[in-house]
Amino acid sequence: VAELVGAIGTSHIPAVGVAIDKGRTQDDYWKPYFDKLPPAREWMAKLDPDVCIVVYNDHATAFSLELIPTFALGMAERFGIADEGFGPRPVPDVMGHPELAWHLAESLILDEFDMTLVNEMEVDHGLTVPLSVAYGQPDAWPCRVIPLAVNVVQYPPPTGNRCFRLGQAIRRAIDSYPGDERIVIFGTGGMSHQLQAQRAGLINAEWDTRFLDLLVNDPEAAAKIPHVEYLREAGSEGIELVMWLIMRGAMNPDVTEIYRATHVPTSNTHNGLLVLENA
Ligand code: DHB
Ligand code: FE
Repeated sequence: VAELVGAIGTSHIPAVGVAIDKGRTQDDYWKPYFDKLPPAREWMAKLDPDVCIVVYNDHATAFSLELIPTFALGMAERFGIADEGFGPRPVPDVMGHPELAWHLAESLILDEFDMTLVNEMEVDHGLTVPLSVAYGQPDAWPCRVIPLAVNVVQYPPPTGNRCFRLGQAIRRAIDSYPGDERIVIFGTGGMSHQLQAQRAGLINAEWDTRFLDLLVNDPEAAAKIPHVEYLREAGSEGIELVMWLIMRGAMNPDVTEIYRATHVPTSNTHNGLLVLENA
């Protein structure tokens, strides 16, 4: 059967994509952050998974206020790169895995997680920047990708607990897939940031560190953090961190923390990177 071989959490800051695409990673501003990536990239290269399930959020690109799916699973053979206002990022298209995606859909929906199934969509920085963080600039992404888009833009987003339970259901689905795919799951977005209004620029590295510690060592407790705490402590966009709970839910209760790096500031965000394997 298929096997979940690891998990990676990373922020998805658009400026990180721009720095990579424009060859600025060695600039004074960027070098200290990019110097922290090699251990995670080496881990990915060594693991070389067949499929990555990328839990991310769409930023009013594929979806808008006209259509707000809480959990949307990408079923397509191929996902194009969205133009978010400056032309599409110069990165390869994302190749899907329809057969595994349909297995996930069947398993999750019959397991009482009512996914929205998306047969056609483009993906934005929420998905492409994490792939760039993990893989750099290959001519083609080395893995198939199943996008799982989570609404964290329009209130109400799903609770952390719901996300954690969905992760556990994803694991049951993986464990019942009759293929031999080796799979990595991505949790993306966060950490603390707020892009608008009076508290724009808010960063709370202490709270983020506590969140990561809980996520790794006591995920049931992390899952109980209410929305209002994310908003108060990590800013309005800090709520993106609920997506890391989907990633964590898919892993074993006990995990080994292979690598962690954080960086302040990257653009407006406390940038997080976390690599986990099942203990
Ligand atoms: C930034 C971070 C995000 O998560 C995002 O979606 C857009 C911008 C930032 O820090 O600039
Ligand atoms: Fe974001």
